Amino acid sequence: MEKFARNEPALWMIQLFRVSKIYPPNYPALTDIHLHIEKGEFVFVSGPSGAGKTTLLRLLFREEEATEGQIIVNGRNITRLNGARVARLRQAIGLVFQEFKLLPSMSALENVALAAEVVGMSRTESRRRAFHLLRELGLKDKHDARPPTLSGGEQQRVAIARALVNDPILVLADEPTGNLDAEMAEETMRLFLKIHEKGTTIIIATHDSGLLRRFQHRVVLLQRGRLMADSKTAGRSMVSKVEP
Ligand SMILES: Nc1ncnc2c1ncn2[C@@H]1O[C@H](COP(=O)(O)OP(=O)(O)O)[C@@H](O)[C@H]1O
Ligand SMILES: [Mg+2]
Repeated sequence: MEKFARNEPALWMIQLFRVSKIYPPNYPALTDIHLHIEKGEFVFVSGPSGAGKTTLLRLLFREEEATEGQIIVNGRNITRLNGARVARLRQAIGLVFQEFKLLPSMSALENVALAAEVVGMSRTESRRRAFHLLRELGLKDKHDARPPTLSGGEQQRVAIARALVNDPILVLADEPTGNLDAEMAEETMRLFLKIHEKGTTIIIATHDSGLLRRFQHRVVLLQRGRLMADSKTAGRSMVSKVEP
């Protein structure tokens, strides 16, 4: 516990202390992960398929519970939480997925507004926020469009608007460019950078080593559930070694 005393809690968005995740019956997806991420950082979690990237994100929004170790998010220990506290944690986190996960029968605006309404914001305020976010993300003319009529890049922008609607302190994106062509992927990454510039902490899981080279940010490399390298401590040279 000495570690807690030495680390300034106000600085950290994420602190993982020797975290392991074993899926039943006996599959070690993450082993002994020790990782700190500062507030306002932009971090790629990289590594080949099966390395444990998705599991790491799922631990952070408490979709999964750690088997060993401690996880602190924004100064709160989230390792063991009851249902109400899990809900509160998730309110503070914006999630973006490879497959967008939009509701196909609702308009773009409704998809975004719903995320605010379900946490208790009024319908009027939710729609107002959704309206402004969609405009900010370049979807001014697409408020009424249903997701299946939008391009992949547009759908991902709607999903990003949804992730931002409750003013998250942390955005977690799991392979957010995985279903996009190169141009759309680039555009989506620029959006994340814009959000990051406003001070939001962003963690992006990706097995796309091209992204890591084009966007020079901290890279944490996982392999077979172990943290193999961290550019923050090793320098950028490690990124050239990252090949999925
Ligand atoms: N719910 C689960 N039950 C059992 N094993 C799982 C489960 N989810 C993931 N795994 C296994 O854990 C390992 C890490 O998976 P994952 O975190 O999805 O890796 P990545 O996102 O890097 O591809 C993989 O070998 C995967 O098969
Ligand atoms: Mg994954």
